[in-house]
Amino acid sequence: MSARGEQVEIAKSKGPDELLSWNDIQKMKYTWNVACEAMRLSPPSQGAFREVTTELIYLGVTIPKGWKAYWTVASTHKNPKYFPDPEKFDPSRFEGSGPAPYTFVPFGGGPRMCPGKEYARLEILTFIHNVVTKFKWEKVNPNEKILFNLAPTPQNGFPIHLEPLKKN
Ligand code: HEM
Repeated sequence: MSARGEQVEIAKSKGPDELLSWNDIQKMKYTWNVACEAMRLSPPSQGAFREVTTELIYLGVTIPKGWKAYWTVASTHKNPKYFPDPEKFDPSRFEGSGPAPYTFVPFGGGPRMCPGKEYARLEILTFIHNVVTKFKWEKVNPNEKILFNLAPTPQNGFPIHLEPLKKN
């Protein structure tokens, strides 16, 4: 299985110029696993602040009421306890029941979790569908560095060569 294979199957099931439907998006399970694995290894958002509303003791350290605490996405994403062989790109981690609750948190968690998550999923899947079914894509700089300027940003703007694929 590959994300491209899944997307080509969906494209084939549609008439020419027929738009994607919500049902098609729901079928893109493997592609979403690929996107999740990319967000696990390189989270778009590094974390967020919480205000401590009640003094608490965590691992013997007192955290006073009113303090700002910053939770980081990467602390669980790269933990081998939750993601064995954490540097390996392996979308199958998201199959079945997937990672344990609150270990995969690119969109945060709890009541302040990102309200844009489902919209982001729709955008990411629609983008991937169109790119992989309509173009061949090659990176211009195969080893382009990623800078973490809050969000991960390709150093040179990620130039690519796009070649339109012939319609079958
Ligand atoms: C891949 C895309 C995105 C990622 C990785 C992401 C990630 C996050 C994270 C980590 C938080 C903090 C959650 C927490 O503190 O528990 C957050 C909050 C938020 N996000 Fe996103 N986000 C994405 C896309 C979007 C989009 C598309 C929208 C709007 C259309 C959006 C709107 C918001 C808002 C309004 C908050 C603040 C929620 C609150 O504090 O109650 N995000 N996002």
